[in-house]
Amino acid sequence: MATFRLLQLSLSALGVMTSLYAPTTSAQSWYSDSTTYAESMTCTTRSASTGVTPLPTDYARFSETSYFSEPVVTDDTTVYVTANTTTAYPVTSWSYVTLRPTITLDKTTTTKYLTATPTIATLTSTTVVCTNGVTPTSTVTVYRGHYSAIPGQNTTLPAAFPTAVACTVTFTALIHVWPTVQGSGTVTSTVTPSSAGAVTSTTITETWPTTVYRSTVLVTFGNYAVATSVATVSKACKPKPTVTYEARCAPSNLIAEMDGQGLDVVTFNPRFTFGGWADMSAGDPSKCCQLCADNRGCVASVYWAQSNACLLGYVGGDERCPEAFTYHAPSYWEPRLAQIYQVGSGCGTIRYVPGG
Ligand SMILES: *[C@@H]1O[C@H](CO)[C@@H](O)[C@H](O)[C@H]1NC(C)=O
Ligand SMILES: *[C@@H]1O[C@H](CO)[C@@H](O)[C@H](O)[C@H]1NC(C)=O
Repeated sequence: MATFRLLQLSLSALGVMTSLYAPTTSAQSWYSDSTTYAESMTCTTRSASTGVTPLPTDYARFSETSYFSEPVVTDDTTVYVTANTTTAYPVTSWSYVTLRPTITLDKTTTTKYLTATPTIATLTSTTVVCTNGVTPTSTVTVYRGHYSAIPGQNTTLPAAFPTAVACTVTFTALIHVWPTVQGSGTVTSTVTPSSAGAVTSTTITETWPTTVYRSTVLVTFGNYAVATSVATVSKACKPKPTVTYEARCAPSNLIAEMDGQGLDVVTFNPRFTFGGWADMSAGDPSKCCQLCADNRGCVASVYWAQSNACLLGYVGGDERCPEAFTYHAPSYWEPRLAQIYQVGSGCGTIRYVPGG
């Protein structure tokens, strides 16, 4: 549709610049007058059976460009000629006047915000130091407890996840070619601005007032911070230690899609803040979920599948069971391949908002 409009536009622009002339015999020379572009894209998606853990991490896109040309097709029944006509154009002179009044308001007060950054929680992760010389090569993960799916949650993992999208883009440049002839006959018009007409002058007045307030109210608001710490535990290790996570953190129980689409945050609680560090649980959304369950005050874990980043969500203030954020399932995210959430072990919540 956009291409069609472009073509229309370029033809109507031509209509202004040149005038239609009566059909003649063969054209003497050729020239290109305008170019329009058309683009079309078709995509196919490949899938593999790799599940939520680990997630596909390669999002590279490949593109290939092919060029082709088609024979120039011309139509001799309509030819265009250029001719000279003189038209006067109006000249406008502009001048600016800037007024800078100062307004003092007796009864109005202004509010000045002071920022403070109170620490509302400490996020701890545990590093195990093996004292018996054994380096674990892999872990066995078990999930304890019971998880009740939230309304509308699909806890069946798909058999295959999208791994690659291949697209073919066809890009066509249309060069419009017209014959030029030295026509004899009646030329209707061509607008060639060449002489100045009457001069009109315009003055623009800009007002930039400065407002002065009699009194100021000071308000302190929080930019909450989450401190981080790493605890070290020294113990004898097994070659294949068992890791126990909560049932809510099992890959199938993580909230990774709704209505068949991937998830994205809509609005955060005004007192929301993220805590965490890079690579906190790279490649493992279940570990991200368990870190939230283990850390007091964490309302929800947010694992970002596109970048393998885990962040833990906290809410400052005194509310006992705060709602950390609302989320939706926009049509542009593949199911389970956008943000992956789960609530922590407190009573804080997150809320699904249906609709893209
Ligand atoms: C248009 O004007 C130019 C310059 O004044 C002149 O060289 C040219 O011959 C004119 N063209 C026609 C078709 O009268
Ligand atoms: C749940 O997800 C599975 C795997 O993607 C799919 O086959 C099934 O149709 C989904 N169920 C519902 C009710 O959407």
